[in-house]
Parts: sequence; C-alpha cells; structure tokens
Amino acid sequence: MGSSTPKKQLILNAFAMQSPSHLNPGLHRYPADQGHRYTSVQHWIQLAQKLEAAKFHAIFFADVLGGYDVYKGPANLTPTIPAGAQFPINDPLYSIPAMAAATHTISFGVTASTTYEAPYALARRFSTVDHLTGGRVGWNIVTSYLESAARNFGLNTQIEHEERYRIAHEYLDVVYQLWEASWRDGAVHAHGDGDGVRGYADPTAVRQIHHRGKYFTVPGPHLCEPSPQRTPFLLQAGTSGAGKAFAAKHAEAIFLNGQSPELVRPSVESVREQARALGRDPAAVKIVAGVLVIVAETEEKAWAKFREYERYGDREGALALFGGWSGYDLSQYAEDEDFRFVEAPAVRSMVNHWAKTVPGGEGKKWNKATIAEYLVLGGNGAKIIGDAKTVADELERWVEVADVDGFNLSYASLPETFDDIIEFLLPELQRRGLFHTEYAVPGGTMRENFYGVKGQTRLPETHYGAQYFWKEGEEVPQYAVQGSSESIE
Ligand SMILES: Cc1cc2nc3c(=O)[nH]c(=O)nc-3n(C[C@H](O)[C@H](O)[C@H](O)COP(=O)(O)O)c2cc1C
Repeated sequence: MGSSTPKKQLILNAFAMQSPSHLNPGLHRYPADQGHRYTSVQHWIQLAQKLEAAKFHAIFFADVLGGYDVYKGPANLTPTIPAGAQFPINDPLYSIPAMAAATHTISFGVTASTTYEAPYALARRFSTVDHLTGGRVGWNIVTSYLESAARNFGLNTQIEHEERYRIAHEYLDVVYQLWEASWRDGAVHAHGDGDGVRGYADPTAVRQIHHRGKYFTVPGPHLCEPSPQRTPFLLQAGTSGAGKAFAAKHAEAIFLNGQSPELVRPSVESVREQARALGRDPAAVKIVAGVLVIVAETEEKAWAKFREYERYGDREGALALFGGWSGYDLSQYAEDEDFRFVEAPAVRSMVNHWAKTVPGGEGKKWNKATIAEYLVLGGNGAKIIGDAKTVADELERWVEVADVDGFNLSYASLPETFDDIIEFLLPELQRRGLFHTEYAVPGGTMRENFYGVKGQTRLPETHYGAQYFWKEGEEVPQYAVQGSSESIE
C-alpha cells in the first residue's frame, strides 16, 4: 500500500451451485434466503445481472453427480435431504444460455466430470453453449469423488484416484482434438460468402480425429462447427499431487481452498513451477482461492450477521457433506471423540490441519460438534468476517502472501452475501485500485476477460491443447502430419 506501482487486478467469481444450499446446509431456512429458488431460471438471471452490474468476472457453478450418503450410511440421505445439502441438484449447464442472453460480459464456469460423461457428448454440449453464449462458458474439469455417483453410473465402487486422472488426461486429448483439430479455421462459409454458390462448409476442412486410445475410441468428426473459444476456458480444482500436475498442464484457472495465505502459498508455487516447466507462462495460470466473506458497515454488524447465519445452519447436513468429501462416516464415533487422535489417518490429518490453522482452533476439542460448526458455513474455505477495511486488508494479504489472482466467493445466504459484498466491499477494493470498474473486454469472451487481453479468444499458443490447432492453409493439422493420427500419446 502507498506504492504507485499498479496493483494486480483481482478476479472475483461467485461460487454457486444449483441446489437449495451449496456450502451452507440448512440456510434455506434463513428468512431472506433465496436458495430454494434454484429451480427458477429467473432466479439465476437476476443473480447474473446483479453480478454483472458489479463487474464480477464469472459465476462458477460447482456440481456433483450423486448424493452425500456416507454419514449414517451406507447409502443414507436422511441427514442430507432436510438440510438441502447439495441435494436435490439440477444440471447447471441448461441455465447458462438464459443467463447469457440477459447479460453481456459476465461468464459462467460449469463443472463436468471426466469420469462419468463421454468426451464426444461433453465436447458437443460445451460447444453448443459456447456458441449460444458468445464464448462465455468455462469448463471446471473434475474427476469426481462421490461413491454414490460411481454406483449410479453402473460401477461397484469409484475408479481408483490415480487412474481417474490417467483417464482425465486422455479425455482432454480427445476433446482438444474435437474442438481444435476437427474443423479447420475458416471451414465454414455459411451464406456462401455472398456469392450464393459455395456450400455451407468446405468438406475437406472437416476431418475425423480417429482417436483410438487406452480409454476412448472416438472417430469424430466433432458434431459442432467451431464456437468462439473452441476449447472453453479451462478451470480445475484438484488438490492431490496428480490433481496439481493435471492443473499445471491443462488448467487456465485453478481453484484452491485453504485457511490462510501462508498455507496456500506452497501449492500456488508448485502449480506455477510445474506450469513453467511445461513451457507455459506461470503468471497466466490464474489462481483463485475459495473464501466466504461476510461484510457489513461495522465489525460488530458483520459478526452479528455471521452468528445469525450460524443459527440456521444444519449440523447434520454439515456432517453429511464431510462424509461425502472424505468418505468417512463420523456417526461411527462417539459424540465426544476428539478426531485429532482417531485411528483413521485421513480424518486425523484433516482435523489436525484444521485444529492448527482455523483461527481459535488450537484450544478446542475437535469432536463432531466442532467439525459441524466449522463446516456449516463456507465449507473448508477461509472465512473472512468484518467491515470493508478488515476484509479488504485480508484479501490484499492473500494476494501478497499467496500470490493468488482472485477469489471464488461462496455465500452464507443467496443473494444477501453478494448484496453485502457489492455494497460494502467492492467500493473499498476499487478505491484501493484492486478491482476493476469496467470489464477488460466488454462483450468479450470468458478467456479474453480472464486474461485481460482483447483477441485472446482461443487457447494461448503455449498451452498444451494448442498443438491441435488446425490452421488455414493446412491440409491436416500439424500434429497429424507425421505418423498416425490415430493416437497422440
Ligand atoms: C475449490 C474446489 C472446488 C471443487 N468443486 C468441485 C465440484 O464442483 N465438483 C466435483 O465433483 N469436485 C469438485 N472439487 C473436487 C476436485 O475438483 C477433484 O475432482 C477432487 O478433489 C479429486 O481430485 P484431487 O484428489 O486431486 O483433489 C473441488 C475442489 C476444490 C478444491
């Protein structure tokens, strides 16, 4: 502060889910909460318009493909359903074109899984939405983590973790080929380019990709003609070693959670270093931290609001979320069991981590009640509560210490949490020169606005997926010139 060098402009996204609650189980009972309107397209349009007026970069929709049924399980949704804890849940992709039609620039991140959806179908769905939104869609690539999803997609149990990432790598090779290597630049003539003679598109400019790999066989061609971004803007949020390596190769924006910037910094450094080793510009990999911000005119009012929200939180729903995330059913343990010392190593290390890092966590006994209390608002992300100055100082500290590029703002109550952020926090961030007052590329694509570069609509040339570009003047794309185009590993 006080320096005249321009500060890094924050990326701010709203972190949402098309469910009665996302990281706020039970808050549908809070009188002002609109979470229950998640089935209304008008609800989402109103949110998109509000966030666009405030210049948010994107709404990022988390998604899951099964219920949180581990707690008090197996296969039991009884604690989950009353809390509206990420169940029921609609597919977020369908509402995106409606939101885009009612806005100009805000973009939309949509979660979809490489474990359960066929790449050929997913590529078509995203191309369609990229067309309909004018290039304002992003794909949050997940490998999924719920056993309940595996069972409903015909498996007995989940595919092993590292194997899920091996599948995901090949999956990306398939979709890059469909998006980038199946239709040559300039292939489409549409109206015959005015001469009334030419066909819709040049058939020699549409090719099969002939992908035949270990996990997928996709001959192509891609069903959709090239959309504005072709490859949608790529987001990812894996936290394991395999997840970070995947992110460093493929992701253009990465989400991560952590209690403090000091703890997040090593992950940021590791991902940027891996990206650099792959020939990418490490600064171009946008890193976005998940946080819950509760802000009001004064510290007292912010804390009072937080305490009020907590009253509506559903503790059983929070323990159900924990069960799905970790795979552990805490109902198996006594009420007063301190999880810092339990046998199960995964739970023990997670809880010890929280005990050491959550403000005020060290003096506490970490029993079920403490875990539920901690997770009931904002999940496993940091919580920043206070007046505009306190919150802005803390966000600024995150940028300085952890080198993050922005934040995924979750909500305690929808849309009240965002109303407060817009009223109290954004003017303070703008006053400090930390947040834009206009989009970098009004009316532009998601990629242009995340990179802040007009014209950067396609993947950057240094991105792994750019090897598949099929440029004008090429008979086939460069990667396919030598040897077989059947498999690209
Ligand atoms: C901030 C954040 C958001 C995430 N959102 C989702 C989501 O919406 N849906 C999902 O299936 N997984 C989600 N995940 C999970 C990861 O994307 C990933 O698939 C999972 O954690 C397994 O990979 P990992 O072991 O590398 O973390 C999220 C993770 C983080 C850290």
